[in-house]
Amino acid sequence: MDTFVINGGARLRGAVTISGAKNSALPIMAGALLADGASTIAGVPDLADVRAMAELLGDLGAAATRDGDGRMQISVADEGNSHACYDRVRKMRASICVLGPLLAKRGKARVAMPGGCAIGSRPIDLHLRGLRALGAEIELDGGDIVATAKKLTGAEIFLGGPFGSTVLGTANVMMAAVLAKGTTTIEAAACEPEIQDLAEYLNAMGAIVRGAGTPRVIIEGVDALRGAEHTVTPDRIEAGTFLIAAALTNGEVTLANVRLDHMLAVVDKLRQIGVTVEAGADGAVVSSARRLEPTDVTTQPYPGFPTDLQAQLMTLLCLADGNSALTEKIFPDRFMHVAELLRMGADIRKEGPTAIVTGVKRLVGAPVMASDLRASAALVLAGLVARGSTVVSRVYHIDRGYEHIEVKLRALGADIQRVSDE
Ligand code: EPU
Repeated sequence: MDTFVINGGARLRGAVTISGAKNSALPIMAGALLADGASTIAGVPDLADVRAMAELLGDLGAAATRDGDGRMQISVADEGNSHACYDRVRKMRASICVLGPLLAKRGKARVAMPGGCAIGSRPIDLHLRGLRALGAEIELDGGDIVATAKKLTGAEIFLGGPFGSTVLGTANVMMAAVLAKGTTTIEAAACEPEIQDLAEYLNAMGAIVRGAGTPRVIIEGVDALRGAEHTVTPDRIEAGTFLIAAALTNGEVTLANVRLDHMLAVVDKLRQIGVTVEAGADGAVVSSARRLEPTDVTTQPYPGFPTDLQAQLMTLLCLADGNSALTEKIFPDRFMHVAELLRMGADIRKEGPTAIVTGVKRLVGAPVMASDLRASAALVLAGLVARGSTVVSRVYHIDRGYEHIEVKLRALGADIQRVSDE
C-alpha cells in the first residue's frame, strides 16, 4: 500500500490542469452499454475507479480502452452476461449505475446490492422505486438486485428522498427511460452538472432528454441508440480541492479546464473566507489573504455547497481566525477526517451532523490514515501547510478519484512524495 510523505510549508504557485470529472465519467461509461455502436469519450481521467468501471464493462461484454490522452473507446460485443457481481460493486459503489442501462437494453440486470461505506449508510431505494415505476420487476436474490422488464414504459416519477435528490438514482432512471416506450418525467431530479453531462452524451446517442440540470427532467423514449462522441465536463471537486490548496498555502495558482459556473457556492464561500478567485484568460486564478475569516457552511444538493468538498473546506477552516460550523446535510456521518485532523493539532468538536472548528495558529505534521476519498484529500491539504512531515497512509482511497494528485501538487511546488511498499 502506497503512502504520501509531505513536508509542509511550500507556497503553491503556477498552473494546473483540472481533469475530467470522475462522477461524470463513471455513469457515462455505464451509459455506453445502451448503444448499438462504439462510443468515444474524451477527458476520461486516469483513476482507479475508472479502471474498475472498465473492468466491470468487460464482465458485461463491452470493451473499454483508454489511450494516454484520456480518450476512451467503448463498444459492446456480447450482451450475454448482465451480472455485476459483489466483488466489483463492493469496490466501487458507482457500479450501481449499470443497473438502468442493462435493464433498458437487455431487459434484465443482476447487480449486487451495494453495502454501506466509510461515509455512512447509502441506500438505493430511490433507484429501485424509479425503475419499478417504469415497469421493472425487481427482487432481491442472494444479495443481488434482480431486475427484469420485457419493455419499460414511461411514467411520472418523484425521486426526492429524506436527504434531497439522488445523483446516481437520477442517472439510473434517466438511462432506463431513454429506451422506454413513451414519456418519462422525473420530478425532484438531481441538478448536478454531472447529470447534465450524462444527458448531453445520451442526446448525442440519439436520446431525447430535456431539462437535465433542473429538478424536472423529461425523457421521450426512442427505439435504439447509436454510439457517440462526448467530452467529460471538468471535475468541480478536483478544482475546488486545488482552490483550497492554493488558499491554504497563501499561493497563487491558475486552474485550466475549470467551470466556475459549476462552482458558484464554493467560490462564494471561499470569497467570504478571504480567498480571491477570479476568472482569467487562461482559467481561474486563485490567491489568498494571510488572514482567513471563519464561516458557517451547510452541505446541500447542487447548486448548494457540495458534500464532496466538506472535508477539504474543514482543513482550510482549521486555520481561520475564529469559530466555524460545518453541517453535513447529505451524509450526516461523513466526518472520518475529524479524528485525523485532531492528530495534526486541529481544534474540532463534533455535535451530531455539525463540526465546530476553532481556528488554530498552525497544524503539525503527523502520521494519519486516509479513510475515504475526500477525507484523504483533506489530509493531504493539511500536510501541505503543517509544520514538519505528514505521512498519509492508505492513499489508494485518493487514487480512486484524483488523477496523479501528487504529480500535480509537485508541479506547483509542493514537497510530496509517493512511497511504495514494494
Ligand atoms: N439516498 C437515499 N436513497 C437512495 C439514494 C440516495 O436515501 O436511493 C440518500 C443518500 O443516503 C444521501 C443522499 O440521498 O443521503 C444523496 O445521495 P446520492 O444518491 O445523491 O449519492 P450517490 O449518487 O450515491 C454521488 C457521488 C458522491 C457524492 C453524492 C452526493 C458519484 C459516483 N458519487 O453519490 O461522490 O457524494 O452523489 O453529491 O457520482 C465522491 O466522489 O467522493 C462521492 C462520494
